[in-house]
Amino acid sequence: MSAVALATAPKTASLHSGRAFPIVIVGHVDHGKSTLVGRLLHDTDSLPTGKLEQLKAVSEKRGLEFEWSFLLDALQVERDQGITVDTTQIWFTTRQRRYVIIDAPGHKEFLKNMVTGAAQADAAILVVDAAQGLAEQTRRHAYLLHLLGIRQVAVAVNKIDLIDHDPVKFQAVADAVRKYLADIGIQVQAIVPVSARQGDNIVGPSPHTKWYQGPTLIGALDAFAPRALPVEQPLRLPVQDLYRYGDKRIVVGRIESGQLRVGDRIRFAPLGREATVATLEQWDGNVPRPLLTVATAGESVAFTLDEDVFVERGALASPPDNRPLDANRFTVRLFWLDKLPLRKNDRLTLKIGTAERDAEVESIVETLDVETLDSASAQQIERNGVARVILRVRPPLALDLYETLPRTGRGVLIRGPQIVGGLVIESAATRVSTDITTVDTSVTVQERIEMNGHRGGVVWMTGLSGAGKSTIAMATQRLLFTRGRHVAVLDGDNLRHGLNRDLGFTDADRMENIRRLAEVAKLMAVNGSLVLVSAISPLQKFRDMARGIIGDDFREIYVKADLATCESRDPKGLYRRARSGEIKNFTGISAPYEAPTQPDLTLDTSKPLSLAVTILVEYVESIFGELPWHPDI
Ligand code: ADX
Repeated sequence: MSAVALATAPKTASLHSGRAFPIVIVGHVDHGKSTLVGRLLHDTDSLPTGKLEQLKAVSEKRGLEFEWSFLLDALQVERDQGITVDTTQIWFTTRQRRYVIIDAPGHKEFLKNMVTGAAQADAAILVVDAAQGLAEQTRRHAYLLHLLGIRQVAVAVNKIDLIDHDPVKFQAVADAVRKYLADIGIQVQAIVPVSARQGDNIVGPSPHTKWYQGPTLIGALDAFAPRALPVEQPLRLPVQDLYRYGDKRIVVGRIESGQLRVGDRIRFAPLGREATVATLEQWDGNVPRPLLTVATAGESVAFTLDEDVFVERGALASPPDNRPLDANRFTVRLFWLDKLPLRKNDRLTLKIGTAERDAEVESIVETLDVETLDSASAQQIERNGVARVILRVRPPLALDLYETLPRTGRGVLIRGPQIVGGLVIESAATRVSTDITTVDTSVTVQERIEMNGHRGGVVWMTGLSGAGKSTIAMATQRLLFTRGRHVAVLDGDNLRHGLNRDLGFTDADRMENIRRLAEVAKLMAVNGSLVLVSAISPLQKFRDMARGIIGDDFREIYVKADLATCESRDPKGLYRRARSGEIKNFTGISAPYEAPTQPDLTLDTSKPLSLAVTILVEYVESIFGELPWHPDI
């Protein structure tokens, strides 16, 4: 297990300390991998004292000529007997840094860990026999590297002594290897002529290959770039839970990468609300906890925010200017664990961090049989198979590419109660289209878009009574309608005569009022309409709730007018009655109004209303007009 811990250990490390650089060594079974490992251990002085002598003595006693690979066999035996605690790793140290060789292909556990990102090799050595050149197994292993996304590869052209250190023969092998790897998308950093048995070009340059100008094998390894440590990466904190203590709301989660400080401005994906960290504590599920000013990757924290923004479990916190991707379709590399194969169009649950989504297998791009390392038919993925797959999720999800941020770039697939696959995100296009769920499968969202020439969506207008919401909504509806859009207005005042006539103006009633408006607006939007909602919706948490109900196609528009202006307009005479005490809980007078902290658009009604209408029409078209809108109109 320590491969995992090491590969991702969040603690501080310089080049010489702490974290070892994880590598894999792959290649055909007879091309000298074990010999190379033995040699690497020896030539870097990484063996326990006396180990080599002991093995040499044993070999002699048995009448065997000593082989470097015995070292590896001996380690294997120790492991099997439980002498060596470390079960899958071999360590060596160069002048530059410490390395850990994580287990080699062919082992299911290894592959599973590599594919799912539980273990991570930063680089690979591909061993090729100088006399035999590329073998079938070399190709398969190389292909596996490609599928595992390992970008840093050094090739050891081994047994150079067997071809008499001949530069021409070496060059032929090197050319073939470079070409094959380039064909499958791997750029080789170095191709080194070595003899693992004789020690040529392992640590020091060989006197037998004076014609070779490149690095030694260790030199090539030392030139590889280490991955950034999680602490140095941007903040990612999947929200695990929310607690309320009195009027304090506490957000809890584990920092997967980066740091979190009191005073940091953070953004919660996917809704995109922002707030500043007010207090920060360590979180171990128990009180009391020490107060912190900063916490880093690997730590679980509880924090409060300066504003009561809408946050829920599954949200992903990041710096506002370094956010995760927002995607509903992406390519993953996955390892399949279930007896029942995975097929195209299968539906499962995808879990990344604390977020869960319904996911569908859009297509299987390529698969690899792990036993034989054969690339197989892309119809389905068998148990223990590795594959590259395109997934679609709904609603969209905040995530990172595994290559940039491993901790938030991996996840699991769940079917029923079981984890059936592990995966990492390889590529994701930022989302382009809406994905409001349609319940009516006889007409798809896409068909509606094509028919209407635009998407459905909700434009939520908030502001004081008399600010001009209804007037702007009605005029905007008229203009959009004339242009052939499917548009409707839901007016708070109007709905209070029917659907909401049982509701008054207490906080709870207003909350329910907004909830119903949001649900109705959502239904209409799903069916392709542009819905202009006009309701005071005085508290941010009401509007955040509406956003939560409607999802991505919700836009919050602040119809801005100060109280004095609204009161002087007083179109319905309500302010006057509120001032006299005849109307209780009147927004702005005897009940609060919170202006939006981060509106998607602000309409200033101290300017002529026609200007606000023009701006809103343009805005609606730019957001929801995915297709060209009947250009002849
Ligand atoms: S909300 O607060 O729940 O969003 P909504 O927009 O539906 O309110 O209804 C507000 C309208 O109800 C106002 O435009 C006004 O005409 C009327 N109204 C009556 N009493 C009140 C009150 N106490 N506060 C605000 N608006 C009121």
